[in-house]
Amino acid sequence: VHSSSGRLEIRLEAAPGTVQLAGRPASCLAYNGAVPGPTLRVRAGDVLAVHLLNNLGEQTNLHVHGLHVSPRDNGDNAFISVAPGSSFDYEYRVPEGHPPGVYWYHPHHHGRAASQVFGGLYGAIVVEDAAPAEVTRERVLVVSDITLDTAGSVSPPSMMDRMAGRTGTLLLVNGHLVPTIEARPGERELWRVINACVTRYLRLGFEGQSLQLLGVDSGPLREGKEVPEVLLAPGNRADLLVTAVSGESMVLAKPYDRGFRGGAMGPVGPGVRRPDGGTVLATVRVAGDPGPALKPLTTRSGPEDLRLLPLAARRHLVFGAGAMGMQGFTIDGKRFNPARTDITAAKGSLEEWTLFNNTPMDHPFHLHVWPMQIVEEDGTGTDSVRVQDVVNVPAGGSVKVRVAFTDFTGRSVYHCHILDHEDLGMMGVLEVR
Ligand code: C2O
Ligand code: CU
Ligand code: CU
Repeated sequence: VHSSSGRLEIRLEAAPGTVQLAGRPASCLAYNGAVPGPTLRVRAGDVLAVHLLNNLGEQTNLHVHGLHVSPRDNGDNAFISVAPGSSFDYEYRVPEGHPPGVYWYHPHHHGRAASQVFGGLYGAIVVEDAAPAEVTRERVLVVSDITLDTAGSVSPPSMMDRMAGRTGTLLLVNGHLVPTIEARPGERELWRVINACVTRYLRLGFEGQSLQLLGVDSGPLREGKEVPEVLLAPGNRADLLVTAVSGESMVLAKPYDRGFRGGAMGPVGPGVRRPDGGTVLATVRVAGDPGPALKPLTTRSGPEDLRLLPLAARRHLVFGAGAMGMQGFTIDGKRFNPARTDITAAKGSLEEWTLFNNTPMDHPFHLHVWPMQIVEEDGTGTDSVRVQDVVNVPAGGSVKVRVAFTDFTGRSVYHCHILDHEDLGMMGVLEVR
């Protein structure tokens, strides 16, 4: 869905329904009857107006993940509750100069986020580039996972699933199991990959294709970088440039040890298993006449390096789990309380946050509204400018980020993007004023 005249109006109905998933009918949750929901395309300067209709039979709300929009009023915040049978009008004003790239939307109702996202409620948002891209085509690949029982219903989580974070047995790309992507030799594709899984880390590997990473989340690299693989924590997105080489190749989800149950968290189920424990996510078939010649890529302008600017404050945040999660997941020993403000920052200031993970599993840390620049990982400084809205903090490790509270005031949240952890309390409230 495209915006016209600077305003995109969309009606999103969240409701249970029967949707084709992994090639068979599934009883799940859907936006407008589809999983993923419609892709929303806007440009910097546009207004995105969403009429959310809640026919789920329980409370929900909507969050535009990664968009730099005001948390005030009916904008982006996690505090709104839309009652079953009612609707809510969101209006997101995407500021001029907003970084182009891929973002996404999903419910964010505390206590229900994991089940609603796992059930099928998510969709892509693309903030388009004004300049025409030097690519043959763009693809939005929403990667998600789900577990369906024999009747095609979404399996409820066990107690263990909730503590470890639920992982689906089916790994889907736009709702399909191992789809085939077709291209002609020499074509250049921009893949916008979203990790919409509740818990699963995607360690994406490519066999036989040349792959360049343009950026993760909203932070484009100054120039594309050839990479053998890309790690996307839950909530992360990547802009990838794929130059098609003749033949068949595979996009893989390689095993990733996120520190739980000795790393036995790799994909299982009817995806195509690989000897190394990975799963084939998609097949790429490149054949036919070569595509038309393409212009060379122009270098993109990257975000400003926050390491060069003076700091206003330093903070420490510690992630914990009482009795391995039995007593909830915490940040600084506290569980989420929407009435409490945990951090107050001054508008216009630059802060440095050190995120400590005192648990035996990784936690992908997400901050709403304001992107984070990673400046140090386990005590080692980063060399390039990496700006993300989800930053993985490895088990027992630490990550230092810088955040510029350049604009907007209001209350918003930061949390673990393993949504089961967020639902169990691993979320705090930030107020900028
Ligand atoms: Cu993708 Cu606060 O969430
Ligand atoms: Cu978010
Ligand atoms: Cu977590």
